[in-house]
Amino acid sequence: MPGWIFGNWKMNGSLKLIAEYVPSLVRHLPTGMGERGVRAVLCPPLPYLIPLAEQLRGSGIELGAQDVHPMSEGAFTGEVSPAMLTDLGVRFCIFGHSERSLKMGLTDSFFAQIIHAIIEAGIEPVLCVGETLAEREAGQQESVIESQVLQALSASAPHGTGRRGSDAPFIAHPAITEADARRLTIAYEPVWAIGTGVNASPEDANQMHAFIRGLLAERFPNLDCSGIKLLYGGSVTPDNAAGLLAQSHIDGALVGGASLKAESFLQIILHASN
Ligand code: PGA
Repeated sequence: MPGWIFGNWKMNGSLKLIAEYVPSLVRHLPTGMGERGVRAVLCPPLPYLIPLAEQLRGSGIELGAQDVHPMSEGAFTGEVSPAMLTDLGVRFCIFGHSERSLKMGLTDSFFAQIIHAIIEAGIEPVLCVGETLAEREAGQQESVIESQVLQALSASAPHGTGRRGSDAPFIAHPAITEADARRLTIAYEPVWAIGTGVNASPEDANQMHAFIRGLLAERFPNLDCSGIKLLYGGSVTPDNAAGLLAQSHIDGALVGGASLKAESFLQIILHASN
């Protein structure tokens, strides 16, 4: 069950952590992991991209950012552009995370802007989607995920709207093409599973991944959507990773809390390598 293991450090970490973490992780990485299709990506807070990249050089572990602004430059105090991430050698960028929508107020139409900007900069987009507990209890999980996925891939026009609110886009974009979609990764992260210690069962997660795969096949009828990476995220730990990664539609994991300790992140990578 080869797979992609992403570590999302969120707003955690320090230079001290990096200095201790990287050597103990890299020393124990399984040999030939890349050849067996196992990839690891770390997504630290922005200030740590460079120090982490320096420590990771030659390790095979790649670098991702946790978010980005859709514009390439200009008067956007506090923001970072996709081209700046490219400059630093960042290969992936997470966007659409529920912590950005529910805690920071970003909207689906804003996320639809970001995906274009990321792709244009040559970075691979990692779109996060997920339903809340109330939505799952109301049986709305599939319609919620469908809306989040399709909205992120749609054209962005002035006054775009989405489940997570509405705002005016910075630039109008056409919808995502099949060529763009080849580089897409989608992380299914039920909001109720994030940071709670309660993960989706492997079967439920797999069912949602199959649903997402079906949505993509409808949206991109001429594309072999089996190549689009689908990750599960939400309380992934060394204890539950094997069961989740064994599922047919789960291509990897987006790991938050358990990626903050080199040992637990390593254990999850080892599960993907077995
Ligand atoms: P968690 O976070 O593993 O701590 O639940 C996952 C995520 O939000 O990406």
